[in-house]
Amino acid sequence: MEKTDKIWLNGSMVRWEDARVHVLSHAMNYGTGVFEGIRVYETPKGPAVFRLKDHVKRLMDGCKVMSISLNIEGRQYGFDDIMDAIKETIRANERVDYVKPCVYLSGEEVGLNPVKVPTSMAITAVHMGNYLGKDASKGAKLIISSWQRPDNLCGPAGAKVNGSYVTSTLAKREAIQHGASEAVMLNSRGNVAECTGENIFIYKRGKLYTPGPSNSILEGITRNSVIEVASDMGYEVVEADICRTELLTADEVFMTGTAAEIAPVTCIDERAIGDGKVGEVSERIHARFHDIVTGKVPEYDSWLDYVN
Ligand SMILES: Cc1ncc(COP(=O)(O)O)c(C=O)c1O
Repeated sequence: MEKTDKIWLNGSMVRWEDARVHVLSHAMNYGTGVFEGIRVYETPKGPAVFRLKDHVKRLMDGCKVMSISLNIEGRQYGFDDIMDAIKETIRANERVDYVKPCVYLSGEEVGLNPVKVPTSMAITAVHMGNYLGKDASKGAKLIISSWQRPDNLCGPAGAKVNGSYVTSTLAKREAIQHGASEAVMLNSRGNVAECTGENIFIYKRGKLYTPGPSNSILEGITRNSVIEVASDMGYEVVEADICRTELLTADEVFMTGTAAEIAPVTCIDERAIGDGKVGEVSERIHARFHDIVTGKVPEYDSWLDYVN
């Protein structure tokens, strides 16, 4: 990640160094925040944010589920205010390809009670580049983590709640320690849920499968885009329970996520996926997705929000 100059904090643009939280802030101690990860792409019409409205909607939905107020320093923030603040942050910085808004309980507390703890909102814009490394397009190596994806009884699995990501960081560390770049997490029923920051698709016997929402996944915006794009390309896409054996014996596997984009998988738990090379279907979908996000496919132009 390359840092930038300015961070939007509670309505003002502050220097990167000045965007701070107190050590006793509720969010810092208990993970009480909701965030988003959003990509910005260069297009022929200038920089564009991919599916910005859907990201802002998910951020606001997450705040609703967590009962986190969007009244910040006396001002009530709505959908359009957040959209504008995100675009303003992109414009205020250079080389931005990833934006991370975060709404969090910034008030200082020692107890757990979150009621009436003041909220802050920060919007950070950075240059991330390739989240899974420069060789990601050659295929990622995965492990199946010993950590379980927290289910809907452990918290709102479908919201991007800061504290919920502790499990993802444990699984990610486990992956790195095993020389892999990502970890698949199974859910409490032993089915495939998702990776630490990506959804997962398999291609098997001519169809694409991905775990449905009841498998404790985050319903990714990239996942949703791939379901639509792959269907438009003529593939049958099925939301289904996927067990470990089905995953390991798939013809192709790929991950989807804002940070990782479309990332092919060639090895899981030391077993080659298919012939161990990046699959043709994954490659086709990846290429189509890349054309869409960089503004080359007019049918999907409504997914792009131009910054200028
Ligand atoms: C746990 C988890 N699953 C899946 C995803 C993919 O979601 P999206 O495509 O909306 O980035 C993310 C990334 O935000 C995530 O954190």
